Amino acid sequence: MTIQNRKKEHVELTLKKDINYEKSSGFERFSFQHNALPEVNVDDVDLAGSLLGRSFTFPLFVSSMTGGYSDAGAVNAQLASFCERRGLPMGVGSQRVMLENRNEIESFSIVREHAPNAFIAANIGGAQLVGGMDSEKTALLIDSIGADALIIHLNPLQELMQPEGDRNFKGIRDGISSIIKEVNCPVIVKETGAGISAETARTLLQMGVQVIDVAGAGGTSWAKVENLRDRSQEPLHQFDDWGIPTVDCLIEVEKLKNDFSFDLIASGGIRTSSDIVKSFALGADFTASAQPLIKALFEHGEEGLDTLLDGWMKESRIILTLLGCESFNDLNPSHLRII
Ligand SMILES: Cc1cc2nc3c(=O)[nH]c(=O)nc-3n(C[C@H](O)[C@H](O)[C@H](O)COP(=O)(O)O)c2cc1C
Repeated sequence: MTIQNRKKEHVELTLKKDINYEKSSGFERFSFQHNALPEVNVDDVDLAGSLLGRSFTFPLFVSSMTGGYSDAGAVNAQLASFCERRGLPMGVGSQRVMLENRNEIESFSIVREHAPNAFIAANIGGAQLVGGMDSEKTALLIDSIGADALIIHLNPLQELMQPEGDRNFKGIRDGISSIIKEVNCPVIVKETGAGISAETARTLLQMGVQVIDVAGAGGTSWAKVENLRDRSQEPLHQFDDWGIPTVDCLIEVEKLKNDFSFDLIASGGIRTSSDIVKSFALGADFTASAQPLIKALFEHGEEGLDTLLDGWMKESRIILTLLGCESFNDLNPSHLRII
């Protein structure tokens, strides 16, 4: 199967099938510490977020999703124009396909046409960096979309579930170190739903990675998605629930702030405004979400994205007020109760 068809199938399965983890992201382990005496005027609550020194209207990254097949350009254009209008950052899907077939560049570069000012991140898999990436390809990743940052996704679980997936993960570390030196933009490393442990995060931070997006378990299960695809290989369902819950990743990786300066993104199963607020109380600097956004877009168009964001913003304002906080940055673990 071509990469183009695979990317198309991923979106279709995300929209039509139950591809969620059985295990939860872990946010339900906490409730909020209600403050009956909040010294807050609800109208003064500041919902802004900041990442890599840039300010955004709300701390939500539109996670990397698509590009590289005929309809993907339209999806990217809509996500981009939403991000431009609403002041949110966005990652494009893996650009591997456009490095292999230059006709597919347009489905990625269209993002800049619709979001001339938004923060846009390029995206490539760690497995594609084994043996190093040549300078021309590295420049194309960044220049084709005028990227503000480069996201490297780590997805060994997903690759191993794909009959045609990569099998060699030896050399990814060297590949990441080299590309960090080559690009003159910040590098973000994310998983795709199986999570990043503290030990992995430490290794990445030592290499000079500036942002860790944990993309933990509890949301979209990429093992499930791959196992549901029409394919030659027998499905390996025992891996459908493999991964570290998002909350565990956050609690572990946050401790590294004592040793390193970096931004921490909570993602993997961010489904409600409560998940977003709890992420900050657990030490996140930003959040990111994929599946709810692509569903909202396919079901209700760009309006669906606005409705989702408006709801999360409205509810976050109420939650922050009820916790006695005027901004996301005021949150800390004392605002949570362990259930
Ligand atoms: C349709 C779809 C396509 C995706 N494609 C990519 C991709 O190309 N690169 C990447 O880094 N992550 C990709 N992801 C993973 C997401 O960025 C995210 O890390 C993961 O789905 C967990 O977040 P969620 O639980 O909010 O969906 C994709 C997710 C979806 C739903």
